[in-house]
Amino acid sequence: MKPLKHLPAWKDLEQHYKSMRDFDMRTAFREDTRRFEQLSLRCGNLLLDYSKNRVTTETMRHLMQLARESGLEDMRAAMCKGERINFTEKRAVLHVALRAPVRPPLMVEGVDVEREVAKVLQRMQHFVEAVHNGSWLGYTGKPIRDVVNIGIGGSDLGPAMVCAALDHYAVENLRVHFVSNLDPAHLATTLKSLDPETTLFIVASKTFTTLETLANANSAKAWLLAALRAPAAVARHFVALSTNVQAVEAFGIDPDNMFIFWDWVGGRYSLWSAIGLSIALQIGWGNFQALLAGAHAMDVHFKEAPLEANMPVILGMLGIWYANFWGTDTYGIFPYDQRLRLLVPFLQQLDMESNGKNVNRANKLVNYNTGPIVWGAPGTNGQHAFFELVHQGTRLIPTDFLAAAVNPTPLADQHEWLLANCLAQTEALLKGKSRAVIEAELITQGMTREAAKALAPHKVFPGNRPSNTLLYQKLDPHTLGMLIALYEHKVFVQGVIWQINSFDQWGVELGKQLAPPIRAALSSVRAIGEHDGSTLGLIADIRRRRGLST
Ligand code: F6P
Repeated sequence: MKPLKHLPAWKDLEQHYKSMRDFDMRTAFREDTRRFEQLSLRCGNLLLDYSKNRVTTETMRHLMQLARESGLEDMRAAMCKGERINFTEKRAVLHVALRAPVRPPLMVEGVDVEREVAKVLQRMQHFVEAVHNGSWLGYTGKPIRDVVNIGIGGSDLGPAMVCAALDHYAVENLRVHFVSNLDPAHLATTLKSLDPETTLFIVASKTFTTLETLANANSAKAWLLAALRAPAAVARHFVALSTNVQAVEAFGIDPDNMFIFWDWVGGRYSLWSAIGLSIALQIGWGNFQALLAGAHAMDVHFKEAPLEANMPVILGMLGIWYANFWGTDTYGIFPYDQRLRLLVPFLQQLDMESNGKNVNRANKLVNYNTGPIVWGAPGTNGQHAFFELVHQGTRLIPTDFLAAAVNPTPLADQHEWLLANCLAQTEALLKGKSRAVIEAELITQGMTREAAKALAPHKVFPGNRPSNTLLYQKLDPHTLGMLIALYEHKVFVQGVIWQINSFDQWGVELGKQLAPPIRAALSSVRAIGEHDGSTLGLIADIRRRRGLST
């Protein structure tokens, strides 16, 4: 594997960047009336407008050349064939196999994974329908009214985000809740309004060893048993989603109440697997299938469209352009859609757990920046909080704006304003507002020339700041599936260019190893052990507050 910076296309991009440093998008739009047509793209009902970026068609040519020289097409094929591209964990990466509607056999190590997927989906469907039609009852014979998904990371963020996004598709008489945090307040506040007789717990954990999930599941079990006073009640009120049958049994959940998935489904890519059970319970089986179908439509586009007209590839390569040539550190995501309020936390895990890496596929430290810091919030809330920095701060921040083109609620006027604000922000980022215009405005408003001169610099918008806009018809299951898969593949593309393994997550391990001895030190002086000076000081302070010796 040739080091990234030795690739001819990388060198071409370095040269090209020099010629682009003073590029002004406003001039580009003035000089080329076809810029929007050239730098925008449709896939299904999605429109990606990337014309408000510091790029030309030549930039895009260089970026696509870099994608080719990086072996993106081969890596994409390797992923879809089930090769073990997650080489540090020796695992295939097959979330795309979870959402294929027609299932020709896909043999991975002698097993037809598509057949396995179909079997689990069928069991999930029966279960969801049984809960909905009331044939699955609680221990005392009452129908289920509340579902609590207990999980964390990928076993929480994906389903929680989708359930929030599609709550307008929710079935009647069933509420779905999510508990993730180790902080007991999360479980306690959720359980407060629930009735044990009508509550179903889904314990969602790929490994079934995760501290937070097991702690919450044990507390939930104790809560249930305290009310129903019969160990047999667990079988009617607990189901598990996991790859680890033994651990599920050891916890006390009957394997008949377990929906399995496989080590080739990464946690942050797992909402399409059994981990999606809470989604199917909330929106019904047909809508869950539409979500899968939307993701599949994006998979087909990703696999088949030429790189130059491939939405995930374009989004991914624009990210490379900014992170590696313009030196940007962060990436802002602003859905003008309150239902997508959990999209940013979901994308933070997807992007930062996947591409927050500093070692490449040749096991060497990289000498360039990899995954960006992903942040954001729904519009218009963000406008009244941190947009100051996006418009006037000293950093260049690439951004994605997302919005539904069609009013999804009866409150048509509010949606019109929402959409107008979304477009206005990207226009403001592009156009900016000059000092001369501001001075003239202030003088017209009656300010003296001197006062206007002093105030004007504070009111300048530099403009020429980048944004992508993703427009969709309305937020339905199919569209959401497409959007999520779009970002999954974008992250994949960037991981390939950076030559890293996007599918492991060793960076979460150290903190997990250090926590048990610290926990022991909090209550036993003998266990204090060796720590750095700061950690020792903090342990001592906590012990002192508890009246323990230090
Ligand atoms: O600690 C990180 C992590 O392993 C994530 O990758 C994963 O999504 C999350 O924890 C939950 O893991 P599990 O589903 O095994 O409980």
